[in-house]
Amino acid sequence: MLNGKKIVLGITGSIAAYKAAYLCRALIKKGADVQVVITPAGKEFITPVTLSALTHKPVVSEFFTANDGTWHSHVDLGLWADAMLIAPATAATIGKMAHGIADNMLITTYLSMKAPVFVAPAMDLDMYAHPSTQHNLELLKSYGNHIIESASGFLASQLEGKGRMEEPDTIVEILERFFAAQQQLAKKKIIITAGPTYEKLDPVRYISNYSSGKMGFALAEACAERGAEVILISGPVQQKIHHPNIQRIDVESADEMYREALRFFPEANVGILCAAVADYKPEHYAGSKLKRQNGEKMNLSLVPNPDIAAALGKLKKPEQLLVGFALETDNEFVNAQEKLKKKNLDWIVLNSLKDEGAGFQGDTNKITIIDANGNRKDFSLKSKKAVAEDIVEVISEKLNGENDHA
Ligand code: CTP
Repeated sequence: MLNGKKIVLGITGSIAAYKAAYLCRALIKKGADVQVVITPAGKEFITPVTLSALTHKPVVSEFFTANDGTWHSHVDLGLWADAMLIAPATAATIGKMAHGIADNMLITTYLSMKAPVFVAPAMDLDMYAHPSTQHNLELLKSYGNHIIESASGFLASQLEGKGRMEEPDTIVEILERFFAAQQQLAKKKIIITAGPTYEKLDPVRYISNYSSGKMGFALAEACAERGAEVILISGPVQQKIHHPNIQRIDVESADEMYREALRFFPEANVGILCAAVADYKPEHYAGSKLKRQNGEKMNLSLVPNPDIAAALGKLKKPEQLLVGFALETDNEFVNAQEKLKKKNLDWIVLNSLKDEGAGFQGDTNKITIIDANGNRKDFSLKSKKAVAEDIVEVISEKLNGENDHA
């Protein structure tokens, strides 16, 4: 999968830089075209001569070559690469990347990078665990960068703990898996609904639910990583997403979500209905703020919202796939199966509020995927990101004809 891939390898001033030579070699052996960009501190740990001999290219470190003035364009590198890998990445480089402190060639290259970026931190365990480092890593993740978590083990400081750079062979495997996955849903269009809907009562109040949108956003990310073109139709949420393959459409009410879903579904290969759509909305919207009724009861009249899943189920062509969700509290399997049938879905993803760690708000979920023939696949409690991978795996197997029974 790395054959012909153009990789910018960023090397920074960590003792783990000695492993960068092996990493370079391993990437080149797999057919990758590697361009090293090294920080001034990186050169204290490994010489540019070693790296240029391995890559058959001059190593880039400064903005220009002092003796003849040759300009090294970080913008060109950003356009050239299929991926940027920063290994080892020190706490200082991670901090600069997180905050855009462009004081060396590596950071300017990072800021100009159009391709996916992978970061393999390497530092002492206390530096790694420091809230500042962890916060910066979270920032990098929120920019869409891929963090190759540090491994635990013996450190150069003679301490033992989490902070050492992941082994070069494992880093190469991660890149290979990434490029392989990019093909799985290439040329597929997927629409995803996510988050809650707000049903307005008056200018200051609405009816809604606790949905955070985390599951839908994780699904959007997982589909995009596999090369799909994603239309993410989201209710009001705090989530952020950055991926060139994702077009985000923000809506507020179920009616708006319904309109957008109907607009995009005819072109889609798959619809994933992850939103917690409010089933009802106030019958009347009060143009001005409803006033307190001096201790008297207040009745709210609600009317049904459109059922987006059921509407898409009716429109669905034989080659299209539709995935729904069912968040249940009792009689879970039977209720979920009924929903699947009623809405003409291909799968329903069941999560039970009885399971600890499942449902809204949290970062984890525990699901069962049920298909139209009643086959069920139970999964253990996982992060929503890992759950999204499982769901997308089932979809991509079906689209690629690898699994005709589930
Ligand atoms: N759904 C939808 N539009 C609605 C209601 C639900 O698209 N107006 C979708 C959800 O996104 C989910 C599936 O239908 O994929 C099931 O949602 P759920 O709320 O569990 O089902 P309901 O049909 O609303 O049934 P109930 O609330 O009575 O359990």
